[in-house]
Amino acid sequence: MIAPESVPRVLRNASGRPLTLSQHEECFGPLPPGAPSLDVLEASGLTGRGGAAFPTAKKARLIREQRGHGKFVVVNAMEGEPAAHKDRTLISANPHLVLDGAQYLAGIVGARHVAVCVSRDDPIMVNHLQRAVHERDRHGARGVSFELHTPPWRYVAGEESALVHWLDDNESLPQYRPRRPHILRIGHAPVLVDNAETCAHVGLIARYGGDWFRRLGTPTSPGSALVSVSGAVARPTVLEIPLGVPVRSILERAGADPDPQAVLMGGYGGAWLDARHLDVPYANDALAPLGSSVGAGVIIVLPRSGCGIAETQRIARWMANESARQCGPCAFGLPAIAEDLARLALDSRGARAAYERLVDRCGAIEGRGACRHPDGVVRLVRSALAVFAEHVEDHVQGVACPASRSTRHYSAVPSLEREEELIWE
Ligand SMILES: Cc1cc2nc3c(=O)[nH]c(=O)nc-3n(C[C@H](O)[C@H](O)[C@H](O)COP(=O)(O)O)c2cc1C
Ligand code: SF4
Repeated sequence: MIAPESVPRVLRNASGRPLTLSQHEECFGPLPPGAPSLDVLEASGLTGRGGAAFPTAKKARLIREQRGHGKFVVVNAMEGEPAAHKDRTLISANPHLVLDGAQYLAGIVGARHVAVCVSRDDPIMVNHLQRAVHERDRHGARGVSFELHTPPWRYVAGEESALVHWLDDNESLPQYRPRRPHILRIGHAPVLVDNAETCAHVGLIARYGGDWFRRLGTPTSPGSALVSVSGAVARPTVLEIPLGVPVRSILERAGADPDPQAVLMGGYGGAWLDARHLDVPYANDALAPLGSSVGAGVIIVLPRSGCGIAETQRIARWMANESARQCGPCAFGLPAIAEDLARLALDSRGARAAYERLVDRCGAIEGRGACRHPDGVVRLVRSALAVFAEHVEDHVQGVACPASRSTRHYSAVPSLEREEELIWE
């Protein structure tokens, strides 16, 4: 099979339907015979596409070194981030590529079981994955058994410790992990959790090798990645791009507003990026000095007519509702942050006090939850106060801001205030 030299890689499939196993093998070739190799994975430099960009080979090595029978690989296809649609797009095209990667990872870490997790509230994805898993079972998967699991949807259900806790017959709640790295377990069995897109890249690395993977991207952020672009765009869309291309070029391909005010990078727990920096490469080491990151592969475009404070307030309120309410700083702190943002956006008399409280609350909440959910909100709010500093000053001075009262929203906050269903391309 010929290795693709440019994008699309993991999205290769123009049929508009998920490939069956035989179509998949025709398109990509079968997984190569022979033992899966951690060295090949290491050489690729692949980092996780679920949000934290942790080196995939390093995680696999850690689980491989654990003793214990019945290890698991968990495919995280929960895609809880509301502005993300990349894993759904991927699974709608190449579900078997995701399963190939999971099978390869299982071979590396010595796991016999692959648990594929997708939200039960997404029946189309459940259907695609169910069919793919059945096909694997029928046609054999080299000593690895696949099982589909369908936790109920909530934002924090996709957090890896919540997912593993749920698979271990408990509630889907994030678990407190005092030391990192922390080995997650189902019963006594060590578990490797990888995002669905990460697995799909592994499926290609297994076939074409680490050097091939590095032909796209940058030395520190190799390969391609999926990006969900929404907000002020002609139509929300998912693109596969080589890492390291300018952010502006991604916006152009997505048909975004050519002169935006800012973009939200990484998702609801991400950070705002000022439009002056749109020529920055889309890669973590280039984005980090600007306080931003690739995160869960989400870009939301804010036009000049929008209010960044009001958008941030909507997201923060939604995130506060999604807290698992196990930890005080998260359960009480996030609603308080959302309330202060609302005052800053809309209450000219209370804006200054709200701004001062916001700065204090961010400091008090940071690093204090069992999971990174509250830290994501703190990052988002701090970036908003910095990127929209001039608007914040106007709000504090009581200058009227018509955009903050506009009913046109760009952050696509679901259920609470959503105007219309997003239709993804
Ligand atoms: C609140 C929260 C929600 C998360 N939701 C998801 C999710 O829906 N899907 C996902 O793949 N990772 C999610 N993650 C990241 C996972 O915890 C984990 O890092 C990831 O699945 C690891 O895979 P990777 O190394 O392939 O990125 C979430 C993290 C947090 C803190
Ligand atoms: S930090 Fe928040 S979301 Fe995370 S476990 Fe605690 S209460 Fe739940």
